[in-house]
Amino acid sequence: MSAIVDVDVQPSADAVMRAAAEQVVDAAVGAARASGRFAIALAGGATPRQLYTLLATPPYVARVEWRAVHVFWGDERGVPPDDPASNYRMARATLLAQVSVAPEHVHRIHGEEAPPVAATAYERELRAAFATPTGPPRPLAGARLDLVLLGMGDNGHTASLFPHSPVLDERQRWVVADHVDATPPARVTLTAPVINAAALALFLVVGAAKAAMLRRVLEGPRDPAALPAQLVAPTNGRVRWIVDAAAAAQLTKC
Ligand code: 6PG
Repeated sequence: MSAIVDVDVQPSADAVMRAAAEQVVDAAVGAARASGRFAIALAGGATPRQLYTLLATPPYVARVEWRAVHVFWGDERGVPPDDPASNYRMARATLLAQVSVAPEHVHRIHGEEAPPVAATAYERELRAAFATPTGPPRPLAGARLDLVLLGMGDNGHTASLFPHSPVLDERQRWVVADHVDATPPARVTLTAPVINAAALALFLVVGAAKAAMLRRVLEGPRDPAALPAQLVAPTNGRVRWIVDAAAAAQLTKC
């Protein structure tokens, strides 16, 4: 079954965050009811900060059963957890320090370690969390991420899957290290198979600076080597893009 893709254009960045918060809450309620757990992979960068802050405040904060939430990351920079560039640090400051996720349910990528070491350790932790010691991820409830939050760079990257990187073709490993054309360059990232085993891949894209790339990714020729965001197509799940009018300005089909 191919992924169902839909694009939700919201009038402003604030509206994007409110719509995204509704999506996260709905997914959390559904997953907790179905399997007693909600496994979410958080995105880094600047865009999701406002979403995380929103989720930690009324009315959203009271609608999530935080004790059932397991937090993962789609990627991490090769920096310590207290570094300003750390995706974990950002999520902890904006969300995790405000809600009652059990410490043992916060599955941090250890950016302070050498990236290949951190990647191997994180894959072990993911495989244990999803009871899949070997082989490919299983797109089944309880054995996969329920929601993967993703951003998109203005070069078409997502997570830390960057254009023309060999890791784009990785189909066996769930987590890999890479050295990318961004700051900081050392990265650890989920690979496409893990993201594509998720129930829902939720992209958040805001701002005019992303408009040209968003049109290439959503409406241009398929070229995932140049546009890694095009790799995201859950095999038994959905892709939802929540974008603001500025980012959607060059789209012709929305
Ligand atoms: C990261 C993110 C990355 C991010 C995009 C968009 O670690 O930086 O995972 O994939 O989502 O670069 O970043 P902005 O939201 O800051 O534009």
